[in-house]
Amino acid sequence: MTTRAPAVEARQLIKTYPGDVTALNGMDLTVEPGTVFGLLGPNGAGKSSTVKILTTLARPDSGSATVAGHDVLRHPDRVRRAIGVVAQNSGADPVATGRENLRLQGRLHGLTGADLDRRVAGLLDRFTLADAANRQVKGYSGGMRRRLDVALGLVHRPQVLFLDEPTTGLDPEARGAMWDEIGRLAGEEGLTILLTTHYLEEADRLAERVAIVDRGRVVVEGTPDALKGELRGDAVHLELRATVGEAGRTLLKGALGGLPGVHEVVVDGHRASVRADDGAAAMPTLLGALERAGVGVAAATVARPSLDDVYLRYTGRRYTQTDELVLAGGER
Ligand SMILES: Nc1ncnc2c1ncn2[C@@H]1O[C@H](COP(=O)(O)OP(=O)(O)OP(=O)(O)O)[C@@H](O)[C@H]1O
Ligand SMILES: [Mg+2]
Repeated sequence: MTTRAPAVEARQLIKTYPGDVTALNGMDLTVEPGTVFGLLGPNGAGKSSTVKILTTLARPDSGSATVAGHDVLRHPDRVRRAIGVVAQNSGADPVATGRENLRLQGRLHGLTGADLDRRVAGLLDRFTLADAANRQVKGYSGGMRRRLDVALGLVHRPQVLFLDEPTTGLDPEARGAMWDEIGRLAGEEGLTILLTTHYLEEADRLAERVAIVDRGRVVVEGTPDALKGELRGDAVHLELRATVGEAGRTLLKGALGGLPGVHEVVVDGHRASVRADDGAAAMPTLLGALERAGVGVAAATVARPSLDDVYLRYTGRRYTQTDELVLAGGER
C-alpha cells in the first residue's frame, strides 16, 4: 500500500559540538509523506540540531538522511528546493513590511510578476496579515510575526515544511490560532510537516505521529493515542512536603511499589508519581504508606495518562520548564 518513499528519513545521526557536547546521539526518524510528525522534547534534547541537519544548515558527524527523496549531504540544493523552513528564531526582516518580506522571499525562489503578486496576496490573506501587510514587522505582535514566519516558509510551495517550535513564546490565544492554521496546512494535499515542540499538548493535538527525543535520540515513537494507551490505569501525582534524597527515593520506591495495584513509581525531588489500576481507590493506601514512611504530602492528583506521563515513563524525568504548566490543564 505505502510504496511511496518517506518524506524524511534519518539514520543514526551523530552531531557533536566543540567542548564535547553531544547534540545528537544516534537520531533515527521516518516521516511518511502527507503527515504531520512531532519531535517532542525539552531544552537541549536535540530537536533544532536535527532540523538543521535535515534542512542542510548543518552537517552530521556521521549518519545519513534524505528529505523528499534527496540525500541531504549529496544533494543539498535539491533538498533546499523541496523544503520550507521556519526556524526557531524569526528570519523576517524587522524593518521591512510583511509584504516586502514575502516578496523578497518569493523573488529568491524565482517568482516574478503576476505569479509573485498572487502568491504574496494569497499568503497574506490566508495568514490574516492582509491588514498589516504594509506595516514594518517590528511593530507586529508575537503571533503575527510567527504567522509571517510560516507564510515565508510556504512561498515556494514546498513539499516538506519544517516548523521549529512554531508556538513557543506565544500567548494561549495566538497559540490556538497557530494550531488552527497548522491543522489546515496539514490538510493540504501532499504537504508533510515536521514540527518540533516543548508542548506535549501541541504534539498531541497536531501530530499523527510523535517521537519523544531525549539526549539526542528518540526514546519512543508512535501515535499520541498509542503512546497514551501504553499507560494503563491512572497517573497519580503526589507533591511531597520535602525534597527526597537518594536514600529516601529508594525507600519510597520500595514502599509505594509494593502496594497492590500500584506500578511504576518515579520519585523526582519533591514529587512522586505512580501508575495505579484505579487511581482514586489507591489514594488512601498511597497516603497511608507515605505517612508511615514519614513523608508529608502537600497535594495529590489523579489524572488520565497524558503524553507528559509517557515522557516521564521513558526518560525517568519530568519536563522542568515552568511554561510546561500550560499543558497540565485540560482533560484527556
Ligand atoms: N552551535 C552550537 N554550539 C555548541 N553547542 C550547541 C550548538 N547548537 C546546539 N548545541 C548544544 O547541543 C544540544 C542540543 O541542542 P538543540 O538546539 O538541538 O536542542 P533543542 O532540543 O532544539 O533545544 P530547545 O528546546 O532549547 O530549542 C544542547 O546541549 C545545545 O547546547
Ligand atoms: Mg531548539
